[in-house]
Amino acid sequence: MAQHTIILLAAAGVVYLILRNICTRIYYARLAHHHGCKPARLLPQGERVLGLSLFKEQMKASMEARLLPLMVQRHRDNGNTFKGSIMGREFITTIEPENIKAVLSTNFKDYKLGREDALGPLLGRGIFTSDGARWEHSRALLRPSFTRDQISDLDLLETHVSHLLALIPRDGATVDLQPLFFRLTIDSATHFLFGESVGSLLDTDNKVGKAFATQFNFAQSEVVKRHRLGPMRRFYRNKQFDEACEFIRAYTGGFVDKALAYNATFKSIQDLEKNPTSEKERYVFLQELAKQTIDKNTLTDEILSILMAGRDTTACLLSNTFHALARHPEVWMKLKGEVAHLDGRTPGYEELRQMKYLKYIMNESLRLYPVVAGNSRVAVRPTVLPVGGGADGRSPVLVRLGQPVSFFAYALHRRTDLFGPDADEFKPERWETLRPGWTCTPFSGGPRVCLGQQFALTEAGYTIVRIVQAVGGKLESRDEHDWAEKMGLATCSFYGVKVGFVEG
Ligand code: HEM
Repeated sequence: MAQHTIILLAAAGVVYLILRNICTRIYYARLAHHHGCKPARLLPQGERVLGLSLFKEQMKASMEARLLPLMVQRHRDNGNTFKGSIMGREFITTIEPENIKAVLSTNFKDYKLGREDALGPLLGRGIFTSDGARWEHSRALLRPSFTRDQISDLDLLETHVSHLLALIPRDGATVDLQPLFFRLTIDSATHFLFGESVGSLLDTDNKVGKAFATQFNFAQSEVVKRHRLGPMRRFYRNKQFDEACEFIRAYTGGFVDKALAYNATFKSIQDLEKNPTSEKERYVFLQELAKQTIDKNTLTDEILSILMAGRDTTACLLSNTFHALARHPEVWMKLKGEVAHLDGRTPGYEELRQMKYLKYIMNESLRLYPVVAGNSRVAVRPTVLPVGGGADGRSPVLVRLGQPVSFFAYALHRRTDLFGPDADEFKPERWETLRPGWTCTPFSGGPRVCLGQQFALTEAGYTIVRIVQAVGGKLESRDEHDWAEKMGLATCSFYGVKVGFVEG
């Protein structure tokens, strides 16, 4: 009897699964028909059930710093939109601006980030890891802190840039600028966010601050690993990562406590709001944020999210830009000409914004070496991409519930049909006329567009100008390699940025 029941239950289960599968197929077929969808091209791969061979191929390319060129080639071979399977999941990859616009903007509500599991242990549930109502709340909380006044503290920046300049040799000796840029941006970001810099560019005894910088670097590399593992992440544990997260959150929590205690010294909300800051009239991001919420976890999550979003990205922009400048003496000389108009004065916020050639250089750097080189979203309901299906790739494509859609800006920005036959070349002058729209959005677009765009361009632009002013001369590359990727959450140069500044 019991045996009969088990057999019956098993049979019912199988029938249920078959019926569910049939219903899902019918549902998707109707939806596809309704929207005129056609299948996207299939990426040729050995096996599609687990997609392990593709995973291995990508891991290998990634370890050899050639994942981005591999993506460019795949698109050249298979079109602007194609489907594949990796780690048991079918994904769609696209470099069609219309599709990217649909994912990030027009059909924004049909997608989620899909990175909360990978980044959660470090960042909790801040702006960088949340979706829906929680994300809306984070965004509303943080947005007021990114107005012009708050992001134009060039004195704070100058303090750290001066530490950087002190480490750049003036006698023509070779220096790798890349690690210096990473130290600059953690120093300035912690100063701006916490009110106290970790001082990694200084020869001081701030052991805990420096440990924070080291642990933060390590934890970031781990979250990238976790993100790449996809659903297999649940089988991956690293005790060192757990400890790093604990340390980072405790260190940040210390500043949160300090900000909350400081704000608590005010008698009324009105008094508190009148007071712009604590540290010698300086704006401290955390202190401002703590006027809006006193929840310690929220403050820790948000402040770490901003640090994560803003630190490496700006360092990568600076590194990639100097990598290109060192290989384009004519661009460097033209930039020097523009900087010379300042007559040796340090630039103000508005002056920086007026420097057109500087802006073209940064735009071109972000086009050719997009700091966020690849990105993705996961569909939270069945939806449609406007193009990419059928033999000519012009029909809509169906996206199933739970399906990841990825897009590689690095490959999109190299499309010769969009940027011309010289798309692979570094030419800031193209920005005299280029108005790219969704063909080039290094700061993303739509409701989740980067909150720190102006902050980043100010910091990077200021640093570039100050290096030109302080070190000047000729900029020589001391490295034979072409640019290759070093991919974390942001992408910089695999071989670093080894240069020398010589007289001339
Ligand atoms: C060159 C420098 C930078 C680049 C290229 C860049 C690029 C981006 C991109 C592509 C996104 C969208 C990510 C996604 O939705 O998956 C983003 C989001 C974000 N960025 Fe930036 N970013 C830079 C610097 C900064 C800085 C300096 C800050 C803050 C100080 C910042 C804060 C943020 C925040 C908070 C988000 C999340 C916005 C949201 O989800 O609503 N970024 N950034």
